[in-house]
Amino acid sequence: MPILEHARKIISLVLLTAVLSGCAATGNDRQDTLYQDLGERSGIADIVEDLLYRIVDDPRIAFQFRGMDVGQFHQNLTDQLCELSGGPCSYTGRSMVEVHTGMNVTESQFNALAEHLILAMEKQGVSTGAQNRLLKKLIPLHPEITHL
Ligand code: HEM
Repeated sequence: MPILEHARKIISLVLLTAVLSGCAATGNDRQDTLYQDLGERSGIADIVEDLLYRIVDDPRIAFQFRGMDVGQFHQNLTDQLCELSGGPCSYTGRSMVEVHTGMNVTESQFNALAEHLILAMEKQGVSTGAQNRLLKKLIPLHPEITHL
């Protein structure tokens, strides 16, 4: 292979590696900043508090939450969202299946709660991009919460 072509191939390879590792770093950075974008644990706690007010005001879902331990729910959901967003928290509550079994949570009830979470994040000034990144992390929990 002529020396010039060989050199060109090496340069292309180095550039490709740089671009790929750049992409990976950007991906990781975005992951790490979701927790920051939600306002860290105190911002998340405010979002969950606002969510709670919205839940009890919504006749579509309020009845499901009657009699719950509000303090425990607030702490556990805050920890869960903190951990899911890459923050330094550990969720120590019950499993999603254990908590929601017997409630027969419907699709529209699930969507109602998601809607309130979006409005609570909106009120807290969370960007649409960060809102979507959190919602994406909650989607896998859907089968562990509904129709149980
Ligand atoms: C993205 C959706 C949801 C997530 C991430 C979620 C998460 C949680 C978490 C972390 C807890 C606290 C667990 C504990 O204290 O051990 C909880 C409790 C509870 N959730 Fe959900 N939940 C979701 C949707 C729903 C929906 C749609 C309903 C009903 C309409 C619901 C009803 C309840 C109730 C009533 C409790 C309190 C149970 C108790 O204290 O005995 N959840 N949920």
